[in-house]
Amino acid sequence: MSRIKPENLRSRQWFANPSDPEMTALYLERYLNYGLTREELQSGKPIIAIAQTGSDLSPCNRHHLELAKRVRDGIIAAGGTAIEVPVHPIQETGKRPTAMLDRNLAYLSLVETLYGYPIDGVVLMIGCDKTTPALLMAASTVNIPAIALSVGPMLNGWHEGKRAGSGTVIWKARERLAAGEISADEFMDAAAASAPSVGYCNTMGTATTMNSLAEALGMQLPGAAAIPAPYRERGQISYETGQRIIEMVWEDLRPSDIMTRAAFENAIVVNSAIGGSTNAPIHLNAIARHLGVSLDNDDWQALGHNVPLLVNLQPAGEYLGEDYHRAGGVPAVIAELIAAGRLPHAEAKTVNGHSIANNCTRRRSTNSNVIKSVDAPVKDKAGFINLKGNLFDSALMKTSVIGPEFAKAYLSNPDDPNAFEGRAVVFDGPEDFHKRIDDPSQDIDTRCILVMRGTGPKGYPGGAEVVNMRAPSYLLKQGVQELPCIGDGRQSGTSGSPSILNAAPEAADNGGLAVLQTGDRIRVDLNTCTVNILISDAELERRKEQLIHNGGYPVPESQSPWQQYFRDLVQPFDKGMNLRNADAYRDIARK
Ligand code: FES
Ligand code: MG
Repeated sequence: MSRIKPENLRSRQWFANPSDPEMTALYLERYLNYGLTREELQSGKPIIAIAQTGSDLSPCNRHHLELAKRVRDGIIAAGGTAIEVPVHPIQETGKRPTAMLDRNLAYLSLVETLYGYPIDGVVLMIGCDKTTPALLMAASTVNIPAIALSVGPMLNGWHEGKRAGSGTVIWKARERLAAGEISADEFMDAAAASAPSVGYCNTMGTATTMNSLAEALGMQLPGAAAIPAPYRERGQISYETGQRIIEMVWEDLRPSDIMTRAAFENAIVVNSAIGGSTNAPIHLNAIARHLGVSLDNDDWQALGHNVPLLVNLQPAGEYLGEDYHRAGGVPAVIAELIAAGRLPHAEAKTVNGHSIANNCTRRRSTNSNVIKSVDAPVKDKAGFINLKGNLFDSALMKTSVIGPEFAKAYLSNPDDPNAFEGRAVVFDGPEDFHKRIDDPSQDIDTRCILVMRGTGPKGYPGGAEVVNMRAPSYLLKQGVQELPCIGDGRQSGTSGSPSILNAAPEAADNGGLAVLQTGDRIRVDLNTCTVNILISDAELERRKEQLIHNGGYPVPESQSPWQQYFRDLVQPFDKGMNLRNADAYRDIARK
């Protein structure tokens, strides 16, 4: 293994450049002014950024303010100097119009920080949904040694004697609220009960998904993803993460050495096995593009769809984050996959220098109710299918959340058990949905398909998590829980509806959804992975010409400069929602 010599550390170009004592003095003096010593900055210790995503504004990641102290202890113990660096805040539940808008902003700003300052390696303090991809994307572009550290999930929530999971409890209670079964105060009590401690969502939402995948990609120490935020092991693994980044700097072990095509293939399989969020393909496709690894939604179907669901966590299952950790977390999931020969690349390398098989093989599930084996899974096929047709080029469906009621109503078509047709009811954004969904004159019945458009990356900048539409209250009162939904927006990872999501191109790019009309018939065929409006090609062409003639699908005005820059530059969901041409900048720390 190649070893970096202290005189070749990147930070020496700033702090100890013998050919330019003047600039060295200028770079150095201001970092001394708060008490750092020349010994810490000039004696060949790696300088490690702790990329801090926690703040009062970001409650999911706020515990990182505490964990950073343990990371710092580990860095110093292993012979480094720690510099804590603020990352643009992203709080999933607090940012309007959507936290997804800020993923690329946090990415851009962290790239500039890591590139432009004297930093030899970085600890990525990940957690809440978009913080994980933003930081992994930035580390991929800059490509200095990097290790991720989850903040960990909240403790299990409990309400009325049952496990109450983040988000999931709200999706369920909103139906009871709409049906008049609970009051607004009771609704709030249920929501608060699901958030009992520091940490991120305790369900298998986007946060648990992305933190698990950061480990499956090899970017976290084994077991680091699932430890609940308040547990003692969380502080301990923070210390070990700080120690390990120093070794990684000396070994020159970089993101591009770890996040290879093999690592992404493993992550896709793990995503299915954990029942991961439909936001994962957007984020992993984005990270891969910054590394120059080819990855698209066809890969997600080919590698992931037939993988069984092993982890029994809400929303698809019963348990929550603490149970996931106690049953063995990500190493146990990977051990079960390896035991069944289902992990494609057991030899893939991880941040601790060992292969993923080496890290995980001996860590089988300790509770088969929570993490199951491949021969007795929760469900057989847990991955996504990539749907195409005249409405869009790519849209994802998580087939494992199709419930028995839904399957009976929609998929028991006598001529084909995996296809259904319905009448489209089209909504232009969430406001339009809330205005009209309960209006009886819309005539929504159980043979309708609800369509949400104007909610993609450009339409609702960042893309809204609104495609999981509830049924009208008059149907909820009759016991109808689910209607099929299609949209160019996203769905919260904590919601379990059978929706067709992330449709690209979006309506705002004048994709097929833009010309759909309420009353059109749509055919969804899960055998051929197609979704089509049942109109002639000539009629489709006529409508598209008309749309362009009328100035295209209307997009609301941007409310901030970043919204406009984002809209001007953003790529569709299936391309990772990256900024145009950003992936041309690779491995920039060496340039
Ligand atoms: Fe932050 Fe779910 S809202 S992790
Ligand atoms: Mg979310």
